[in-house]
Amino acid sequence: MSSHDEVFILAIESSCDETAAAVVKNGRQVLSNVISSQIDLHTLFGGVVPEIASRKHIEKINPVITQALKDAGMTLDDITAIGVTYGPGLVGALLVGVAEAKAIAYAKKKPLVGVHHIEGHISANYIENPDLEPPFVCLVVSGGHTHLVIVKDYGVFEIIGRTRDDAAGEAFDKVARAVGLGYPGGPKIDQAAHGGNPHALEFPRAKVAGNPYDFSFSGLKSAVLNTINHAKMTGETIVVADLAASFQNAVVEALSDRAVHAAKEYGYDRLAIAGGVASNTALRERLQSECKKAGIRFYRPSPILCTDNAAMIGAAAYYEYQKGTRHGWDLNAIPNLKLGER
Ligand code: KG4
Ligand code: ZN
Repeated sequence: MSSHDEVFILAIESSCDETAAAVVKNGRQVLSNVISSQIDLHTLFGGVVPEIASRKHIEKINPVITQALKDAGMTLDDITAIGVTYGPGLVGALLVGVAEAKAIAYAKKKPLVGVHHIEGHISANYIENPDLEPPFVCLVVSGGHTHLVIVKDYGVFEIIGRTRDDAAGEAFDKVARAVGLGYPGGPKIDQAAHGGNPHALEFPRAKVAGNPYDFSFSGLKSAVLNTINHAKMTGETIVVADLAASFQNAVVEALSDRAVHAAKEYGYDRLAIAGGVASNTALRERLQSECKKAGIRFYRPSPILCTDNAAMIGAAAYYEYQKGTRHGWDLNAIPNLKLGER
């Protein structure tokens, strides 16, 4: 490949509580991936405080970008284009990344490519799987989204199922808070569940009328909260490991059953997962074995590429760049940006 064909994306991600920058070559080769997490800061408050997140992004964004370039052994002059998450997410947090990306692109006369955060999560699958190309089914499970998506082409999506209420990650976070495991709940529940019995407590599995691929987690969340309150009132002790394992099992079952069913029904033999909850140990194990049984090839990014990072934004930005997507200096943060919108 001549150097002319090499596309180096400097990618920036600041939609929630991680300030991240990465350099990605040709969409799949990660030359650097720097993540500055604010989790410790927000843990004090039991969740992400938007105003604090924005301020922290402003502090961290320049050092993180400098580090990403350094790790890649590059300067801004070597970069082909700037990719940045412009939605969905916290508006003040997104704006820090968007303003930074615009400033760099303008000063260095580089193309600017805005990226949908969820398109980024899905694209994380391309990084470690050189053979993976659309079409395939993807289960997107993050703190804000629970979607079953058919990835028809790069950047082309059909959403076939979504949550009617809480996102999967949100349910993890709320249950973790209620049992005193703290923020962020997903990894805490995942860990606590290791020593627990997933069948110790029977929680409801919600069926959603109308669409077999839609999800609902609010009933499950209420059932867990009721169990906790009941125990408090009657003085029974709750075995946190059992509760965590039983709750996790209910979520994992709902997610994996629908995902595998969708792949079969729509006739795809490849299923990928994406988003922070995709790093969940039990979900990965169950999907691995269910897919094997069904003859479906299962793709999952390494955990560090499941939770928020900029490498995934670089992967998505590359395919958008190749399709000709360019944003102008009027690019704005769009907190409720829909998947597939521009
Ligand atoms: O994708 P992500 O990093 O940020 C968003 O775009 O929302 O996802 C964060 C969510 C949080 O709700 C967090 O609790 C959850 O992903 N999460 C997990 C695990 N690691 C992160 N949920 C279950 N198990 C995990 N191991
Ligand atoms: Zn995310």
